[in-house]
Amino acid sequence: MASSMNKVEDEAFVTLVTNDVYSYGALVLGQSLRDAGTTRQLAIMVTPQVTQAMRRQLTFIYDVIQQVDPLDSQDAAHLALLTRPELGITFTKLHCWRLTQFKKCVFLDADCLVLQNVDDLFEREELSAAPDVGWPDCFNSGVFVFRPSEETYQGLLQCAVGQGSFDGGDQGLLNTFFNTWATADIKRHLPFVYNMTSAVSYSYRPALEKFGRDIKIVHFIGTSKPWRYSYYPETGTLTAPDGGNYHAERYIKAWWETFYKRVRPRIEEEQGIDLSGKFGKLHLEVSPSGSPGESSPTEDPQLQQWEKGQMDYLGKDSYQNIEKHIDTVLNDKSK
Ligand code: UDP
Ligand code: GLC
Ligand code: MN
Repeated sequence: MASSMNKVEDEAFVTLVTNDVYSYGALVLGQSLRDAGTTRQLAIMVTPQVTQAMRRQLTFIYDVIQQVDPLDSQDAAHLALLTRPELGITFTKLHCWRLTQFKKCVFLDADCLVLQNVDDLFEREELSAAPDVGWPDCFNSGVFVFRPSEETYQGLLQCAVGQGSFDGGDQGLLNTFFNTWATADIKRHLPFVYNMTSAVSYSYRPALEKFGRDIKIVHFIGTSKPWRYSYYPETGTLTAPDGGNYHAERYIKAWWETFYKRVRPRIEEEQGIDLSGKFGKLHLEVSPSGSPGESSPTEDPQLQQWEKGQMDYLGKDSYQNIEKHIDTVLNDKSK
């Protein structure tokens, strides 16, 4: 476990991962909190699907690794409205109210990146959160301040059973449960810079130019997560997974720099391998310029899927399988 010296023991930043690929997000998020000099505990909830190898990596950054059972809203109709069938699993987030060893916590989605110290969030009360850009009278549930409590957890479950979630994920349920957020207390409205949903750069770019330097937390909402981009360490450039560049490039770069400089070396040291080339190969099958020679056309449908960013994270492209592949290559080389 990471050292917990000089830490406030009863307050924690909390995140959640239900698989290895979101864990890359959590490694970068946790590192970014440490680099911003937090004095709070770092806790992560993991479901059984997260591999041992990945949990070991997480122990280098997180003080508490709490296994939880996956909860699923199984609300296909509402999730379809959101066009994100995978988000039912985000109900698992509700387990954070059971972390009663802490008095107060800040939940952060695993797709967040901290740019500046945000320990002042612990001065806020439950439930504090920032507006959702899609409907600003709702809060976005990627960043929120809460008080762990078994009673609140049970209340949330009852609300889920009785009223369900209007978006099929945790955000719809939490906005139903904490339904006075929009009107009751302005102190519970976090400034947008604590949850800058990065797609906003396209809806209000001048504001981004003016206030960009105040941003404390970037939240990469949507399907184009930073780990789905390709990163070219030698030039520091990127290519987007779906051909488009949905998120502001500078923040995706900041995510990748944290991964490359701060997280990757520990994976390499721990596993005794050199990932720079190998990691590059995983993400760099197609060069940014598209110049011939650097990308090899392939008939392999699985490789084509990977090149399009459509990884089968839980199956053939799982962290364990990738690790196995790296081992095989290294063993072959040393023969
Ligand atoms: N999450 C997870 N596994 C999944 C989907 C989501 O662990 O398969 C967790 C993770 O912490 C993630 C959060 O639930 O950040 C919310 O999902 P996501 O960030 O994808 O939603 P968005 O912010 O894009 O709406
Ligand atoms: C959102 C939030 C995310 C939440 C999801 C499902 O857009 O960003 O944190 O898990 O909706 O409700
Ligand atoms: Mn998110």
